[in-house]
Amino acid sequence: MAWLITGGAGYIGAHVVRDMLAAGREVVVLDDLSTGRADRLPARVPLIKGSITNRRAVRRALQHESGVTGVMHFAARKQVGESVQRPLHYWGENVGGLQVVLEEMVEAGVDQMVFSSSAAVYGQPDLPDPLDRITETTPCAPINPYGATKLAGEWMVAATAAAHGWKALSLRYFNVAGAGSPDLGDPAALNLIPMVLAALDAGRRPLVFGDDYDTPDGSCVRDYIHVADLSAAHVAAARVVEAAHAGAVVRSPQEKLQQAAARAEQAATRLPGGALAVEVANQVPAAAEAAAALAMGRVPPAVRAVERATGALPWALRPSGAGGVTGQAGEIVAEVASQLGSLAAKVVGVEEAPRLVDHLAVNVGTGRGSSVFEVIEALRASVGDDFAVDIVERRAGDPPALVAAADRALALLGWRAKHGLRDMTDSAWAAWQVRPGR
Ligand code: WQD
Repeated sequence: MAWLITGGAGYIGAHVVRDMLAAGREVVVLDDLSTGRADRLPARVPLIKGSITNRRAVRRALQHESGVTGVMHFAARKQVGESVQRPLHYWGENVGGLQVVLEEMVEAGVDQMVFSSSAAVYGQPDLPDPLDRITETTPCAPINPYGATKLAGEWMVAATAAAHGWKALSLRYFNVAGAGSPDLGDPAALNLIPMVLAALDAGRRPLVFGDDYDTPDGSCVRDYIHVADLSAAHVAAARVVEAAHAGAVVRSPQEKLQQAAARAEQAATRLPGGALAVEVANQVPAAAEAAAALAMGRVPPAVRAVERATGALPWALRPSGAGGVTGQAGEIVAEVASQLGSLAAKVVGVEEAPRLVDHLAVNVGTGRGSSVFEVIEALRASVGDDFAVDIVERRAGDPPALVAAADRALALLGWRAKHGLRDMTDSAWAAWQVRPGR
């Protein structure tokens, strides 16, 4: 059992390769090395050098001897400006290439997928206040060919998943930044943080594109997400896809949530956490501990305890036979954990209870916006230089603000971002100083 990671030698893919290995998964990488670098991959990772548009290369990767059962699809073109100049190149690579991958997955019977999508699918969302958070149900209306190819990609994945009974997730990344380790920095100076560092390097003043937006400090607001957090979201996504594929309950139905909540409330009124804990205490002490913690409204210990009890996230049960719990004890833990998962969602205030049937899109962001000036300030602290900037005209096509609602990621993946802006600027700066070819 292995995951094929297309684009695994790239900036984001290489982080995910390492984290998937650390999570005990085998991986195979398909990368044409157009922007990726083979030396980002640990030596033991098989690399098939080829493009996703090359059917034979894709087939070879899917037929790798390690036995590919799922695909994480990162390989794509991602420059918005270039997509405006060369739209057909973008449609060919991002949509045509994806079609080849999907066709070959159908052919090979590989039916689990995590697709790299982007907040670019939302375009300039029409929100009451531009600083409002964007949910997955906010209408998608891309404003450039790059965003259009990502939305078309999601649709193609969703339709294939529905037609063939797959389990698939599309992760909509917000503004990815930073480095998980200094050797894994973003090699291209195409986004704000590396563009500022490149300007400083060249002895120029970094540019701020507009300070007259309707935002608190006048500069654009974005949801910057540390690439290490993004990578962790992929590992969580792989677990959820695997669990759903194995038939485990990834999200319990609404009634179950209400039932579990009612039982916990009852328990809490008698003795905080008591009844629910006692109910399962004999069979599954760790789950009972979790129930008690939950009934008392403490989520993190519950999550950890259920994780201990099931060997997986409470929301994504590892199937029996895959190294997880088995037999009757397994069923009890599964039942308790599934209820606790729902309850945890309620305790942390997640109203929506999404369930992975075939395909779902999930925002991956922090839920917090930072302005360009705030990013500059963090970079000044990281670099240790109070550098000056030039404020110039707005850049065409920049929405004033794009901030993710990250609730679905928490409810479905049991994931939330851990890193803040300074972690991103510190790690980006550390990586920048040791970048290859500097
Ligand atoms: C961030 C903010 C700029 C450079 C793009 C794509 C998106 C996704 C991520 C993915 C904006 C401002 C920037 C500079 C500045 N792509 N800025 N001076 O535009 O939010 O998102 O990258 O794969 O689809 O659109 O990211 O990093 O270019 O800009 O003031 O030198 O920084 O105006 O407000 P953006 P960015």
